[in-house]
Amino acid sequence: MAGGKFTITAALPYANGPLHLGHIAGVYLPADIFARFLRLNGDDVVFICGSDEHGAAITLRAKKEGITPQEIVDKYYSIISKSFELFNISFDIFHRTSDELHHKTAQEFFLKLYNSNKFIEETTEQYFDTEYNQFLADRYITGTCPKCNYESAYGDQCEKCGSDLSPLDLINPISTLSANSPVLRSTSHWYLPMDRHESWLKEYIQQGILNGVQHHNPKLWRNQVTGQCMSWINGGLKPRAMTRDLDWGVKVPLSNADGKVLYVWLDAPIGYISATKAWAEANNKDWKDYWVKDHAENRKLVHFIGKDNIVFHAIIFPILLKDHGDYILPDNVPASEFLNLEGDKFSTSRNWAVWLHEYLETYPDKEDELKYVLTSIAPESKDSEFTWKEFQARINNELADVLGNFVNRTLVLTHKYYQGEVPHKSNLIEEDLQLMSEISKFPNKISEFLYAYKFREAQAEVMNLARIGNKYLADQEPWKIVKTDPQRVQTVINLSIQITANLSLLLLPFLPKSAKKLQQMLNIELNDWTVGGSSEIIADGTQINQPEILFAKIEDSLVEFEVNKLKSTDIQAMMYEAQKETVSFDEFSKMDIRLGTIISAQKVEKADKLLQLTVDTGLDQRTIVSGIAENYSPEEVIGKTVAVLLNLAPRKIRGIESQGMILMAENESGELSFMSPEKAFSAGGGIR
Ligand code: 2FM
Ligand code: ZN
Repeated sequence: MAGGKFTITAALPYANGPLHLGHIAGVYLPADIFARFLRLNGDDVVFICGSDEHGAAITLRAKKEGITPQEIVDKYYSIISKSFELFNISFDIFHRTSDELHHKTAQEFFLKLYNSNKFIEETTEQYFDTEYNQFLADRYITGTCPKCNYESAYGDQCEKCGSDLSPLDLINPISTLSANSPVLRSTSHWYLPMDRHESWLKEYIQQGILNGVQHHNPKLWRNQVTGQCMSWINGGLKPRAMTRDLDWGVKVPLSNADGKVLYVWLDAPIGYISATKAWAEANNKDWKDYWVKDHAENRKLVHFIGKDNIVFHAIIFPILLKDHGDYILPDNVPASEFLNLEGDKFSTSRNWAVWLHEYLETYPDKEDELKYVLTSIAPESKDSEFTWKEFQARINNELADVLGNFVNRTLVLTHKYYQGEVPHKSNLIEEDLQLMSEISKFPNKISEFLYAYKFREAQAEVMNLARIGNKYLADQEPWKIVKTDPQRVQTVINLSIQITANLSLLLLPFLPKSAKKLQQMLNIELNDWTVGGSSEIIADGTQINQPEILFAKIEDSLVEFEVNKLKSTDIQAMMYEAQKETVSFDEFSKMDIRLGTIISAQKVEKADKLLQLTVDTGLDQRTIVSGIAENYSPEEVIGKTVAVLLNLAPRKIRGIESQGMILMAENESGELSFMSPEKAFSAGGGIR
């Protein structure tokens, strides 16, 4: 099967947050295993990724953190790319969509489609924020979902009931910029008439046929991918805007398009092409060999993604590529389902997550252990779950007890009986021949699974080879016959070493670091999948090195620590609301906060929570109504000097005009406390 040609992409992560284990298990790890395997197998591969630095996801995050979008993408580009590097993901390039080369590539792509009339221009009414003087991207509008009445649905989707929405569907739309109700204004955009593409898409997705010829094997597409696409297509495709009114992104390269950028879902997949160009330029290659039809004959384009990106990669991007005309279309879109964590969905806002960069900081020498566990539980065909208990069990019972144990026993015996020199095998008996025939089948079995995008099964097969090795040693019991039948023991150890050497090759795609370590122990270098399966893979007389433990066991204390950490941040996130939007120093200075002394107090009638206070502010004496009656009686507050916001607009509370606000501290159970100066300061003193 070697000799294939592949352009492999992994979904460009938004540079608006770090990566968690769900992203890794679903996308980056399987893509890396695939790329590593293909390289070993002699296939021609380029493995592309980069950060997705445009779109409302970025500008919203910037607003939340109170920094510029550029600062956001720089910050997360650096966190993300560093953790990929530490985790040993073997991208040929990790590019950025903010790169000039990308802007140019995306604009050229857009223009080619524009000039060949692939878009339709339409003017529609869209929501506009008059205070911020800008049109509102879907994610900038929240309102009540018309389907389930959830009050914080987004303009493009309700996260409660999962419905796809358009901003105009929302009841009581609110701008997240100003918190005002937006108004409708007309604006023009370029739409991709997806409805015109239904019939060829059906053939391409269901039968693998493109332009009347067999393009790929549709049986190799995962059911959920074909299923999701067909349900979209059968539901009727609608034109979709390919441009947006936004000031962050790739500018629409037309003269009448001020303030408009390419829709991030047009921009991002083109990022795969521009990343390939950047890599090719740096490596003396021709990028066209990886993307352009006439150059890239028989090349397979494969997109590794999560299930939330299926429609973009299996419907929209293929339409764009076909409309453009020069490019090959995806051969497969192996999308994963979602990974859950300890019984719940990953959630950034609740910090219910295991972040890759944190894991790598805490366990810098355990990257392969994590890879092993994530591949074992990968959500390939249905959602799956990561628990720290299973992390421990898989490492201890499988990596350490099966693989590590077999390798260690073999190498220890080789040193004990032969001072580390690989013995010669002779007089092979039926069990040896049987074993050799078994060994020879593994590389093919594993590669068949890998070419079919079945990574869990592929990795499980490698472990099966280690199990066979353990069984062989246990059956042959060389330690019992070493005195009586030394020649037989030489054969048993030789074959056990051949298995070990095969393992060190077949593990390379999955656990590259441990596989290399094992090769060092064996004093060999193996980089060619096709030599796998041989029982002569390591020569007689080779002097091997001292064995080291490959995988240490995971203690219960680690599991406890991690589970507690998760639960405590979850509780904190529930107890304390997230930081509010940033205010400028000028905005802050507008608040006039001073010390005031309470000189009289009484209960407000028929209001359990309210006290009516007279406060000496140093400037005057004024009335303030305060909701502290459940925590303080009138008697105990008199004479206290507390923090007061003086210039809050007066408001009537229960018919009493309140001219300011007493500032209170609140604990997690809602109990209130005055904030009084530690020193005996008197009324009128400023607070800054
Ligand atoms: O869902 C996401 O994280 C997107 N940034 C994926 C983009 S994939 C591709 F189109 F680049
Ligand atoms: Zn809803």
